[in-house]
Amino acid sequence: MKKYTPLQIAVHLYAWSALALMIFDFFAGNLSPNFIQDLEQRTGRHAATLLVLSLAATPINTVFKWSEPLKRRRALGLYALMYATLHVIIFADLDYGLAWNLILETVFQKPYIIVGAISFLLLIPLGVTSFDVWKKRLGKNWKRLHQVVYLIAPLVILHYAWSKKGDIFTLQGDVIRPAIYGLIILIFFALRIPAARRFAANISGKLSSR
Ligand code: HEM
Repeated sequence: MKKYTPLQIAVHLYAWSALALMIFDFFAGNLSPNFIQDLEQRTGRHAATLLVLSLAATPINTVFKWSEPLKRRRALGLYALMYATLHVIIFADLDYGLAWNLILETVFQKPYIIVGAISFLLLIPLGVTSFDVWKKRLGKNWKRLHQVVYLIAPLVILHYAWSKKGDIFTLQGDVIRPAIYGLIILIFFALRIPAARRFAANISGKLSSR
């Protein structure tokens, strides 16, 4: 029988927990009167969180020399795509009743939705090609393609913060959470710079040898 590691179990449990909770809250009547918006926001937030977690794998490996998160990156990315797809289905079907003219009108009227749509369209090829067959087929280009995630993540954060209609620079409105996500992503980006990577690995090495 296949043995699952604690991290693997945690990843799957965490990923499915949001869907389980949404279904529970739906039947228990715990959703707000505007339940469509509730579901739209929850799926969007979970997708964004899973995407940020998938980006954490490389920095965790470089700083703490713990490589297992690298093996969980694909699952986290696919779960992010799954929740983003649910988010878009809720928007297009439950919210707009698949009225495509109205959907297109709204998308082009609200720039934050254009940003969300771009990030979603970019996420799809990453999900599709995340499997080993594609890794082999695309060779060096696979890595190049998957680096697009470093463009998608800031776009998702922008979409998130903008949808809250606050001001991310003065932290007005409900933008604290997207601002925190943005900061985390910025730290992950910084850790791609070799000097910053060496500095962080040095500190973690010193701390663990104490
Ligand atoms: C075609 C693509 C997309 C559309 C049409 C769309 C639409 C929307 C809409 C209408 C809202 C505002 C909900 C409200 O507060 O009433 C929203 C919020 C949000 N979306 Fe998207 N979105 C898209 C893609 C994405 C993607 C790819 C992600 C993440 C990977 C995402 C994450 C979020 C988050 C985190 C929020 C804020 C949730 C909150 O208020 O707590 N969206 N989106």
